Amino acid sequence: MQHTMFVCTTCASVWENGKLVGVSGGKKLLQQLQELYQHWELQEEFAIAPVECMSACNRSCVICFTAESKYTYLFGDLSPDLSVSAIADVLECASKYYTHQQGLLPWAERPELLKKGILAKIPPVSISYAS
Ligand code: FES
Repeated sequence: MQHTMFVCTTCASVWENGKLVGVSGGKKLLQQLQELYQHWELQEEFAIAPVECMSACNRSCVICFTAESKYTYLFGDLSPDLSVSAIADVLECASKYYTHQQGLLPWAERPELLKKGILAKIPPVSISYAS
């Protein structure tokens, strides 16, 4: 099953006179994640994909974990200048998401920066609901 981490590349953009100034915070975050990702054991199973806006712009920077038949998580309030250990924490949390059959990430098992910035936890489409 393919897993994907979406990273918003338009988060924390600075605009002047209708023009983008410099590199957006989201692109900086993506670059940081991609650097550690090169050495991550789950590269084959877990893609990092840039996207333009996930409609949580006032909580930038924003990332998302998703996979078919699993919960989808949206996280915000991430700094575009995370430390290497914080980036490693994001990948470690993604590993937990990968390992859990439904992708559940209980609060206590998430790193600090993904505890308080959670914006959405969306159930899998395939979940069975009691009526
Ligand atoms: S610009 Fe990143 S969520 Fe909208």
